[in-house]
Amino acid sequence: MDVFRVTGNGPLNGEIEVGGAKNAALPLLAATLLTEETVTLRNVPDLSDIRFMVEIMRHVGAVVENPEPGTWQVTAKQLTHIAPYELVRKMRASVCLLGPLVGRLRKAEVSIPGGCVIGPRPIDLHLKGLSKLNCSVSVDRGYVNVDASKMEGGPVFLGGRSGSTVTGTANIVMAAVLAPGTTRIECAACEPEVVDLCNLLVQMGAKIAGIGSPELTITGVDKLFGCTHSVIADRIEAGTFIAAAAITRGDVTVKGIAPNLLGAFLDKLEEAGLPMEVRDDQIRVLPYLGSLKPVDIITLPYPGFPTDLQAQMCALMAVTEGISIITERIYPNRFMHVPELQRMGADIAIEGPSAIVKGPCKFSGAPVMASDLRASAALILAGMAAKGETWIQRIYHLDRGYERFEHKLAGIGGKIERLSDKEMPKELWAE
Ligand code: EPU
Repeated sequence: MDVFRVTGNGPLNGEIEVGGAKNAALPLLAATLLTEETVTLRNVPDLSDIRFMVEIMRHVGAVVENPEPGTWQVTAKQLTHIAPYELVRKMRASVCLLGPLVGRLRKAEVSIPGGCVIGPRPIDLHLKGLSKLNCSVSVDRGYVNVDASKMEGGPVFLGGRSGSTVTGTANIVMAAVLAPGTTRIECAACEPEVVDLCNLLVQMGAKIAGIGSPELTITGVDKLFGCTHSVIADRIEAGTFIAAAAITRGDVTVKGIAPNLLGAFLDKLEEAGLPMEVRDDQIRVLPYLGSLKPVDIITLPYPGFPTDLQAQMCALMAVTEGISIITERIYPNRFMHVPELQRMGADIAIEGPSAIVKGPCKFSGAPVMASDLRASAALILAGMAAKGETWIQRIYHLDRGYERFEHKLAGIGGKIERLSDKEMPKELWAE
């Protein structure tokens, strides 16, 4: 297995380009199953999660080609309705095949994805939404079975305990675009990735009003068509680079990202006193003297502060003088990075769904273990700000969602190497 060796190397400097968004590309790929015609997606990041998705799409019968890097062409003439456990368990997001299979085939049998280290990730809202579209939904031996032979549009309220659901909204929209009648989704997720999905569906011939708002009105059509669409930029990757620049006091321009996609995140960094120059499609982080200021954060659905930038912000606030309180409202247990940051010297206490971060700490390199995608990123950021070497194990989590991460960071002066665990000194191994 691969590991990273990260060596603190002073401020990052230079320009870095943001790639296509993983969390947009996955439902966009699923949406291509809604037509028999060829859909071409461009700016698709090269990630293991994308390859899992392609594998499962091929399994259900789609012909998926990759004519050039970043471009995927899908032709789904004939599909089967079964997505088995051995494929779905590899990636939770494959549950977003449910909507397209229901829309296209009027039936689906999709394995329920297993647990996840960031906390319980139920799909009750997806199932409730399908029931509201007059589908018959049952759960049997770990599979969701949907009979959508009588599917029709209707009112669907998709809010849950934590507010809206991103993949749940995607699933219901993808089923509803081919359902007779009108569907009105209330409490729809407003994430830019859901907007990107709706934009693709409209290009394919769907009728959706209210895109980007919590109320979507969908008028079902008989058929959808092929088209070409480019995946939006990855706001979480951009935010991670911005945090990397800030934690190393670097001078970094993050290019290819519309700043309005990062509103709540940039607002907090501004409150912390991070000097930035924000332009139409790029954000430049400037070096600063002294310390940033601590901030209090609550993660919320978009346009609130994204949970997917919470771990990176924890690392940044750990080196910031004062007390920050970071409250996780989407996944209250998503603090697996905290014990590892503590091993590197951070002073962080967990109180219920909040991390109380007391800074400033001086990170020192240590062997640490990545537990999920964003936790991996936070450990790399801490490693770049640390004195000495940080060895990070289980970096396959990072490869799920960050494209060429170490190359991109190396391009702006980060000292980060991908090595085989055989090259890691034995005494540093966690297991
Ligand atoms: N929820 C329910 N019932 C449901 C669905 C969700 O109670 O039926 C709850 C969840 O437990 C959670 C909240 O609603 O508390 C939000 O979950 P959501 O469904 O919005 O999450 P998701 O669609 O499964 C996507 C991203 C996650 C990101 C979340 C929140 C993809 C593939 N994944 O997950 O991304 O954290 O939205 O923004 O789009 C990541 O990239 O690292 C990642 C975990």
